[in-house]
Amino acid sequence: MKKKILSMTLAASTLMGCGPNVPQLGKSSTDEVIAAMTLEEKAHLVIGTGMAGFTGENAVIGETRSLVPGAAGTTYPIERLGIPAVVLADGPAGLRINPTREGDSATYYCTHFPIGTLLASTWDQELVENVGKAIGNEVLEYGADVLLAPALNIHRNPLCGRNFEYYSEDPVVSGKIAAAYVRGVQGNGVGVSVKHYAVNNQETNRMANDARVSPRALREIYLKGFEITVKESVPWTVMSSYNYVNGTYASENKELQTTLLRDEWGFHGIVMTDWFGGKDAVAQMIAGNDMLQPGTDQQFEDIVNAVNEGRLDETILDQNVKRILEMILQTPNFKGYKFSNNPDLKAHATITRQSATEGMVLLKNENAVLPLSSDVKNVALFGCTSYDFVAGGTGSGNVNRAYTVSLLDGLKNAGYTVDESLKPIYEQYIEEENKRNAPDPSNQFAHFMPTPRPVEMALTLEQIEKQAVNTDVALVTLGRMSGEFEDRTTSDFNLSNEELKLLQDVTKVFHASGKQVVVVLNIGGVIETASWKNLPDAILCAWQAGQEGGNSVADVLSGKASPSGKLPMTFPVKFEDAASSANFPVNQKANIDITHKGGKKNDVKNVDYTNYEEDIYVGYRYFDSFDKQVSYPFGYGLSYTSFEYGNPSIKEENGEYIVSIDIKNNGKVAGKEVVQLYVAAPKSKKIDKPEKELKAFAKTKELNPGETTLITMKVKASDLASYDESASSWVVDAGTYKFLVGASSRDIKAVLEAEVTAFSEKTNDILKLQEPLTVLTKK
Ligand code: BGC
Repeated sequence: MKKKILSMTLAASTLMGCGPNVPQLGKSSTDEVIAAMTLEEKAHLVIGTGMAGFTGENAVIGETRSLVPGAAGTTYPIERLGIPAVVLADGPAGLRINPTREGDSATYYCTHFPIGTLLASTWDQELVENVGKAIGNEVLEYGADVLLAPALNIHRNPLCGRNFEYYSEDPVVSGKIAAAYVRGVQGNGVGVSVKHYAVNNQETNRMANDARVSPRALREIYLKGFEITVKESVPWTVMSSYNYVNGTYASENKELQTTLLRDEWGFHGIVMTDWFGGKDAVAQMIAGNDMLQPGTDQQFEDIVNAVNEGRLDETILDQNVKRILEMILQTPNFKGYKFSNNPDLKAHATITRQSATEGMVLLKNENAVLPLSSDVKNVALFGCTSYDFVAGGTGSGNVNRAYTVSLLDGLKNAGYTVDESLKPIYEQYIEEENKRNAPDPSNQFAHFMPTPRPVEMALTLEQIEKQAVNTDVALVTLGRMSGEFEDRTTSDFNLSNEELKLLQDVTKVFHASGKQVVVVLNIGGVIETASWKNLPDAILCAWQAGQEGGNSVADVLSGKASPSGKLPMTFPVKFEDAASSANFPVNQKANIDITHKGGKKNDVKNVDYTNYEEDIYVGYRYFDSFDKQVSYPFGYGLSYTSFEYGNPSIKEENGEYIVSIDIKNNGKVAGKEVVQLYVAAPKSKKIDKPEKELKAFAKTKELNPGETTLITMKVKASDLASYDESASSWVVDAGTYKFLVGASSRDIKAVLEAEVTAFSEKTNDILKLQEPLTVLTKK
């Protein structure tokens, strides 16, 4: 359908002529180009070119060469004005394009880097910037212009199906890691789209769910990461989210897209919708949502008609068009960059392998079982996922990679002998399970959705005993897979009976023969650990570590790399413990309604609307303020060595608090430490304050045994502010603040104090609740 309009416009353009006096983008000013555009051309430019990009068709009529098959979309080209189409492609863990093309024997594989959650677990902004640099290089060399990443929605609840793409339950971690990623990608001269702005914290009914959140929780938790990213990395574009925020679609919400993003934060780039997001194209234009992707005929007609009927001021359209043209001017496609289609995939494989080891979190290491001693030569490998390692999640966050290294292969590459007698049994079982779980071909989104993982395979005690005789140690991998469209279920959060039985039997048999057991978690989001963590000797949370996953895990197990990741979220004891669990679509069926036929409904709690009653008490802000037991706290992670914190100091300089501390490696092997700075505000009469909040963090360089380094972390006085809704202001109360230097949120190594003077900053009074909400407070 879209094609019809495209060809009609092309004919119209031809009639309008392309002579020497027609302004050309880049040669004439953007204002002159806009003045020469027809209303139809403007309406085309603010919407995309339809879904052709998804299917690999050449999306663009009038172009002399094909664009990038499998990219998510393109902008609309207007040849007579010298406006090329530019290519928009997913996604966070690497570039998502089709790996093969019809009639072409070449391949176009991209590197699957570690998932966002693993990158955040490195707490290493320099490392993330380097990963971004490599991803951006693939964007450039495969001919794309804008990467639809990073994704930095808050881990509000462990079950959100897309948490793997996101970074953390904390906005400072999310914002700083996203900013580093953006700097890395954009350093290549390509753009990013920071997504999903905002409050897209559940997949269930994501296109029509109304997130009802207090302005304070919005400002302090859900928008803060975006604010940091926009201010610290100047992204080219932002992607508005699907959901409603306090009664208005995010993409139709002028307060979000203009008042906050542009007027308050100073964003100058473009906002594009998420694919098919929002309902009212005219409202989106007015809100400052410049571009609608992937674009539909209906949107085109609505915009043209609204201008003709006086419902949409053409100057608004012109402003959105101008911002799009300014973005296009920066792109490689506009500049005629000759891409190679041949990025250095080998070099990038090394980057992903190494970066993945730095985000793996050692949760348990009894009797220093890890790194495996040099006496360990033979390994027993249990769990389907050991043989079928998960590189990342599904949907737009997937990357079409050439291979994924399994744990089996990773161990063999590292020189271990794996008892392979179970291999054919596992492989046959996995094949059968995958057949059984094959996606329903009648579902048009099937290829995009997570397919269920195999139920863990049952082994007899005899089979396990045989393994124990032949090997020195047992590895048990527990795997999870999720993706967009669906949230995880509580049975995905908890271990299945089959997994638990396997773990019990393996530990019983191996321990009886004096051998140890290591669990590897190949997961994209939090799972239950409290009830079984006493069983194995060690637990390594390897996350979904990208295409080199098996090699990266083997590097950590063997001690070639010392794990230095820490958790960017809390592992609760039980799912119900998370404060948001009472207001989350638990085990609800997903609803994929991209047509919006249903419209906005108000009846089903957590589906049609979700009340963010926990307010600012997300993650450790809740667990620590309400003194709740957790399985593993925020910021937690062990190392193969140990660190001593010494000589803490604090000073104030030009409105900044500068905290310094010596970190000494007092163990036996080299390692890196993540250091966290929390601030506890004095009790406020007016504002309910969390017990403490993360304000800064740093990671040491690799420290040799006995080596000491000085870590310095800075916090601006204004970063100490809470949002006071009654005054619509950021407010810092005067008083004595505690600056807590910690190895995790529950392992505070030094407490410093500073006198802070009062400060307040007025903001726009926006994003108000439309429905009453009773929020959690400590009082
Ligand atoms: C996702 C976005 C993605 C877009 C294009 C949507 O379904 O929510 O994150 O960038 O598709 O693939």
